[in-house]
Amino acid sequence: MKPVEEIKLPIVKEMELFESKFKDSMLSKVPLLNRITYYIVRRKGKQMRPMFVFLVAKMVSDGGFDERTYRGASIVELIHTATLVHDDVVDDSNRRRGFFSVNALWKNKIAVLVGDFLLSKGLLLSIDNEDFDLLKLISIAVREMSEGELLQIEKARKLDITEDIYFEIIRQKTATLIAACCGIGAASVGANNETVQQMRKFGQYIGIAFQIKDDLFDYTEEKIGKPTGIDIKEQKMTLPLIYTLNNCTPKEKKWLINSVKNHNKDKKRVKAVIAFVKENGGLEYTTEKMNDYKNKALAILENYPTSEYKSSLLKMIDYVVERKI
Ligand code: IPE
Ligand code: IPE
Ligand code: MG
Ligand code: MG
Repeated sequence: MKPVEEIKLPIVKEMELFESKFKDSMLSKVPLLNRITYYIVRRKGKQMRPMFVFLVAKMVSDGGFDERTYRGASIVELIHTATLVHDDVVDDSNRRRGFFSVNALWKNKIAVLVGDFLLSKGLLLSIDNEDFDLLKLISIAVREMSEGELLQIEKARKLDITEDIYFEIIRQKTATLIAACCGIGAASVGANNETVQQMRKFGQYIGIAFQIKDDLFDYTEEKIGKPTGIDIKEQKMTLPLIYTLNNCTPKEKKWLINSVKNHNKDKKRVKAVIAFVKENGGLEYTTEKMNDYKNKALAILENYPTSEYKSSLLKMIDYVVERKI
């Protein structure tokens, strides 16, 4: 059994029902929009965010459940999908989930509008059902994701990123949404504020590990359904490179910065930079940091009693750092 299938075991029914609700949540009267959302739904991703919503909801309430939990799961996946559609425009990337990205098929104009539509559908789903507590949790994530992406662009322009800023960027652009998933899962079943905040923290740690893994993928040539080796092309400096810059000679540092600044579209030069980072322990250091965050997430789960939901979350943590896609 695939790791994801195993993780899903205690929530198989919920995930099935979620999928049909998620599909319905995108419907529109505009035929073009329906064609595009149909295309998006068919190439579904790993659906890790709804899985976090369901597993946390059940872990904190001893298997309890609520219609609000389904809406929470749809909201986070709608917002996630919206940000991916926009992200591929921002990153000028033509592949997603093993196929063409929305911007590759329909161009940027349409991708921007589709992303906005999905975002509005997500927010309206909470408003129409008066899930204002969930709306607040998701809105924080929406704000922070835009801030994180903009901070990343600012740093890519100046090429002056530090390790602290890197962590702040990934916390905002990625971990905040996973934090919202876990907070929403807990809030959807009426957990108290302390539990909601603790679950947000849990989601934040695992979300940081998740993005570090994503950044490690960029340094490999594995087939993950989206391009690899594009971060340097986009002048995006992630942890492997930041570490290497801080641990090489001034001459090497000059060469690295010059490569990212002036030769970032030169494939051979980018390959040389990637090789240099690998030779200098950039990936090992980054993996260590990823495992630190994994352990922080694990420590939070220790406060909860044994249950099938908790074991699935534990497997989920391993999956985040060991996944092949
Ligand atoms: C991709 O997230 C965006 C990042 C935050 C790195 P996922 O890897 O969860 O994307 P899908 O939904 O499975 O395609
Ligand atoms: C992370 O951005 C995802 C979002 C905040 C939307 P990336 O640009 O690093 O993610 P991928 O690698 O394209 O999925
Ligand atoms: Mg991006
Ligand atoms: Mg991207």
